[in-house]
Amino acid sequence: MRQLTAVVLALSAFAAAAAPAYAKGDPERGEVVFYTCTGCHGIAGYFNSYPSYRVPKIGGQNYEYLVAALTAYQSGTRSHPTMRAQGESLSAQDIEDIASFLALQKKAD
Ligand code: HEC
Repeated sequence: MRQLTAVVLALSAFAAAAAPAYAKGDPERGEVVFYTCTGCHGIAGYFNSYPSYRVPKIGGQNYEYLVAALTAYQSGTRSHPTMRAQGESLSAQDIEDIASFLALQKKAD
């Protein structure tokens, strides 16, 4: 029993240490900007509505990863045509705000 408690404590310490990774950008503004993305990224099961193809899970994703992915679409380093069109319309501030909003979402799996 004591051993189990130690494991639980260790895990919660880990979770607490991992939490503040999103501490940049404004998640409330990000939620507003992200509204246009929900047509593809807001659907349960991560299929867009029509035509149904899979989109990656981005809710609960790491802040730095999201900023890097969106910046890569914006600059063209990452060249998926659909997401390039999305990325091009975002400012650096939009990207940071969206990333902080998404990083705060619960990971669904
Ligand atoms: C028309 C559908 C569509 C819309 C609208 C859309 N996305 Fe995407 N998104 C996709 C698809 C498809 C991919 C996978 C692209 C790839 O394989 O590179 C993707 C990938 C991504 C990724 C990379 C995920 C990863 O795991 O690397 C991010 C981040 C993302 N989208 C954010 C956004 C944001 C933010 C918006 C709104 C500004 C948005 N998307 C709007 C379809 C869409």
